[in-house]
This record gives sequence, C-alpha cells and structure tokens, in this order.
Amino acid sequence: MEIKECIETRRSTRKYKYEPISKEVIEDIVKKGQLAPSWKNSQTPRYYVALSSESIEKVNSLLPDFNKERTQGVGAYVVTTAKKGLSGCNAEGEYFSHLGNGYECFDNGLAVENMALYAHSLGYSTLIMGLFDEAGLRSYLGVPDDEDIVIVLALGKKDIEPKMPERKRIDEVLKIF
Ligand SMILES: Cc1cc2nc3c(=O)[nH]c(=O)nc-3n(C[C@H](O)[C@H](O)[C@H](O)COP(=O)(O)O)c2cc1C
Repeated sequence: MEIKECIETRRSTRKYKYEPISKEVIEDIVKKGQLAPSWKNSQTPRYYVALSSESIEKVNSLLPDFNKERTQGVGAYVVTTAKKGLSGCNAEGEYFSHLGNGYECFDNGLAVENMALYAHSLGYSTLIMGLFDEAGLRSYLGVPDDEDIVIVLALGKKDIEPKMPERKRIDEVLKIF
C-alpha cells in the first residue's frame, strides 16, 4: 500500500470481529513503532501487549463502557507508555524545553501513528484510546513508576466500514507566510 493511500484510508474502527494475531505480527508492528523519530533518539515509548484471551479480556475490563463496547473482538491491545526523564531533558534529566515533559507524549504519538498506519497496511484496524483505568492497567501490566501510560491501541479485524469524520477546511488550520 502506498503511503498516501495508507494515510488517507486509515480509520479509527469501533467494531471488530475476533481473529487471533500472532506474536510475530505484534513484534513486526511494534518494531515499526520503534522506527519513529524521538527526542535525541531517546526512544521513550514502551509497549505492553495483551494478546492472550485472558489478558485481552482483562484490559477490556479496564476501559470505560463505551471503549469496552467499541473494542469487543479485537485481537490485541497495545498499551504504550512513556519513560520519564529522557525526552525533552538535558543531561541531568531536567526538562528544559518550553513544553516541559510534552515531548514524551509527542514521541509516543509518533510511535503510535507508525503502528496504526503499518497495521492498516497489513489489513488490521485500530482504535487509539486515551481513556482507561490508569491505576488498574498500571497494576495489571506492572508498569513502573518511571513510565506514564499514554495510549491503549486496540488492534484487530474490522467488522464495519468506518466513515472519515470531517476535517476542518485547510484555511481554518493553515497559515502560510
Ligand atoms: C489521543 C487520542 C485519544 C483518543 N481516544 C479515543 C477514545 O478514547 N475512544 C474513541 O472511540 N476514540 C478515541 N480517539 C479516536 C479519535 O476520535 C479519532 O482519531 C478521530 O475522531 C478522527 O477519526 P479517524 O481516526 O478515523 O481519522 C482518540 C484519538 C487520539 C489521537
């Protein structure tokens, strides 16, 4: 799939039919996440993947009802975290950019988008979710205190043809000088 088509046709998907996903496919997708740029190549994203039916069910149970419902039947959840104190930091580990620790989430988003686009090119659909039971997920996955949980990415085979939500007109968002 051409990059243009991949970007234009990726859609957030909110209805899935279960099909197992192999560990090899998960690794392949996460490796594409790792290829994303990051602050000074600090590579702060970490990946926790629920792949067994038990872990999928557990992560699903830690989502708010609407996300729970929307991602029934996914083949995996990829939970991404950001290791703190690296991205946007000086050698002493102090955040020194105008965005504070914002570049940690920026790096994470780049990795997540890489994975979503690559998964789409392989025929998998995704839903990026920012709402979940943070404490429950942290405890279940054993996420250490020096990582922030950023996103739960649902991954699976779609059971719907999602329409693209409208985008703003280009003149509403673009200023060229
Ligand atoms: C940071 C972030 C958090 C999101 N959280 C949710 C969510 O909790 N539930 C959901 O259904 N969609 C969520 N979305 C998906 C957006 O609603 C979706 O990307 C947007 O409507 C554009 O649609 P598209 O992805 O099909 O282009 C999230 C997207 C992003 C980038």
